[in-house]
Amino acid sequence: AGASVVDQLGRPLRDLRISVTDQCNFRCRYCMPEEIFGADYPFLQEDKLLSFDEIERLARLFVSIGVKKLRITGGEPLLRRNLPQLIQQLASIQGVEDIALTTNGSLLKRHAHDLKKAGLQRVAVSLDSLNDKTFGAINGRGFKTKPVLEGIEAAKEAGLQVKVNMVVQRGVNDQDILPMAHYFFEKGHILRFIEFMDVGNANKWRLDQVVPSKEIQEMIHKELPLEPLESNYTGEVAKRYRYKGTDKEVGFISSVTQTFCSTCTRARISADGTLYTCLFASQGTDLREQLRSDTSDQKLISFIQTTWNKREDRYSELRSNDTIKKDRKVEMSHIGG
Ligand code: GTP
Ligand code: 5AD
Ligand code: SF4
Ligand code: SF4
Repeated sequence: AGASVVDQLGRPLRDLRISVTDQCNFRCRYCMPEEIFGADYPFLQEDKLLSFDEIERLARLFVSIGVKKLRITGGEPLLRRNLPQLIQQLASIQGVEDIALTTNGSLLKRHAHDLKKAGLQRVAVSLDSLNDKTFGAINGRGFKTKPVLEGIEAAKEAGLQVKVNMVVQRGVNDQDILPMAHYFFEKGHILRFIEFMDVGNANKWRLDQVVPSKEIQEMIHKELPLEPLESNYTGEVAKRYRYKGTDKEVGFISSVTQTFCSTCTRARISADGTLYTCLFASQGTDLREQLRSDTSDQKLISFIQTTWNKREDRYSELRSNDTIKKDRKVEMSHIGG
């Protein structure tokens, strides 16, 4: 096994987020707007996708140099055929402490049991509104909330730990903040509010659409008093709070108003095997070519170590009008959030 490695800002590599498809059944306005991701959009061809064996090999190599947490993303990862098979392969790797999945939840009811059985520990389900009309407009395809809510319950019944992620946009779903807080408080699921970010080039992001976490937290506190909790681990993205007098929790992911780059230990691999060292990267490093030639494990490991060691990314800390406009950034559906 290789030695662990730190980047230019002293950050180790601990988490690997693996996208298994760039396709999605939703067309969320802020991620895959229909005008851009239409019928003729050039999604990745099957032969460009990493196979499960290629993903497993990469994961093994990353774990050998210090990665402890794996997260499967997309697009929508449950569109990838036989996903539980991949989970099982990843769960068999010595040294993996945590395997999670980020999903839109629409297909979760059908798959929750098999995913759990394969070794998945946790799911993060995205849900931006409880109102069918608002939700249908946000997801761009008129999907209703019911299948997602059923997916969440099915995941819980299957024994998966569940978190719900809500991306808040002013003027779009800020009226849903309190209903969501109340609903998931009652249900006992951890809800996390995410500040709308300028990921990719497709979502026409504007700062005035961001609702700062502080504002959301104060709004909730008035109805359901909150008290801060310690982080579960250093580098945890969400700031955690407890509803006073209960053991129920809520979180805030404030990548715009309270950046967390200084503790960012995350690498991302797109479905076509490109390694990205930041969610806002404009380019990545191809690994697929090396996987498909006869490159040795040791050689791949040192390549990954070198790439990580050069890393200087801290986009959220540097965010300004210039970075927002000028950069060509990788799309969320490609890199998985
Ligand atoms: P836990 O392991 O449960 O703490 O999960 P997580 O919060 O790391 O993962 P999840 O996929 O639920 O992330 C929620 C959202 O936080 C993502 O979809 C992103 O919007 C945001 N996020 C996660 N990691 C990063 C990051 O490194 N940088 C930025 N800017 N945002 C991130
Ligand atoms: N800003 C913040 N969060 C986003 N997500 C997708 N696009 C954005 C954005 N522009 C969220 C999804 C999901 C996770 C993968 O990232 O809603 O919860
Ligand atoms: Fe699909 Fe998630 Fe993007 Fe929405 S945010 S289009 S559900 S990948
Ligand atoms: Fe990490 Fe980049 Fe997000 Fe900062 S902006 S926390 S460096 S992924």
